[in-house]
Amino acid sequence: MLQVSTRPALREALNAARAAGKRIGFVPTMGNLHGGHISLVKAAQESCDFVVCSIFVNPTQFGMNEDIDNYPRTLDADKALLDESGVDLLFTPSVHDMYSDLELTWVEVNGITERHCGASRPNHFRGVATVVCKFLNLVQPDCAYFGRKDYQQLAVIQRMVEDLFIPCEIIGVPTARAADGLALSSRNGYLTPEERVLAPQLHACLQEAKARIEAGVTDYNALTAWAKEQLESGPWRLDYFTVCRQADLAPAEPEDRALVILAASWLGRARLIDNITLSR
Ligand code: PAJ
Repeated sequence: MLQVSTRPALREALNAARAAGKRIGFVPTMGNLHGGHISLVKAAQESCDFVVCSIFVNPTQFGMNEDIDNYPRTLDADKALLDESGVDLLFTPSVHDMYSDLELTWVEVNGITERHCGASRPNHFRGVATVVCKFLNLVQPDCAYFGRKDYQQLAVIQRMVEDLFIPCEIIGVPTARAADGLALSSRNGYLTPEERVLAPQLHACLQEAKARIEAGVTDYNALTAWAKEQLESGPWRLDYFTVCRQADLAPAEPEDRALVILAASWLGRARLIDNITLSR
């Protein structure tokens, strides 16, 4: 695996792959890699013949009160995992490579960013959309891969690519989970052993809510109240648990058919997110 850390070196490596007629797949990450990230790499390898991965802890998507300095940085282990997984090119830019001292241009996707994680984390999606737009312009991949675990993020990126005519296909990859159902996440590392035992409860609540909707429940506010009660009777602090329509992530009405339940909750120091899709 070749590693490059500057934009010119990236361009050179990509030119060689393009000249060889390779189909380029791109997997952007913030590092501290786990099986979820590797499932994106595997999906990329299935449909592309040159896979580029980036590791960049993007400062503009972290809020003032969010501790970017403590975000887990495990570059050596990440490199070993990517190498073992057969990634062709790793891009590890510095903040200076990705942003000027006075950034004037931002990518803002409105509407679908207003609720859920967008409401709890002001400017988060502006930072995500801006950095992903920059990466797509630098790498110019045929396809880019994102996890469905971050459902709202995937929707934001899909919308940005459509609205800005970015010539790249966005592929959503199913959530990779531990055997007990917990969605794999870098944030799981913040859980104590006791919290880790409780952590699958979020996914279990989503599954139960899905089963109730499939059995005919349409009072979605009552479902939210039920989930809050379930979780907050233990050590969880719920941020949101909302039955939404897939099309625009607005709260669902009883007549909506294609649904996704989006949830985020604090468990100790970790803010865990998960979701489940269903149709009725
Ligand atoms: P990060 O949290 O490192 O995640 C990188 C990619 O891995 C995202 O597309 C995310 O949805 C996916 N992913 C994480 N856990 C997953 C799981 N359990 N199953 C499947 N996919 C999973 O998301 C980001 O970084 C950043 O916001 C980024 C897009 C890189 C922009 O900075």
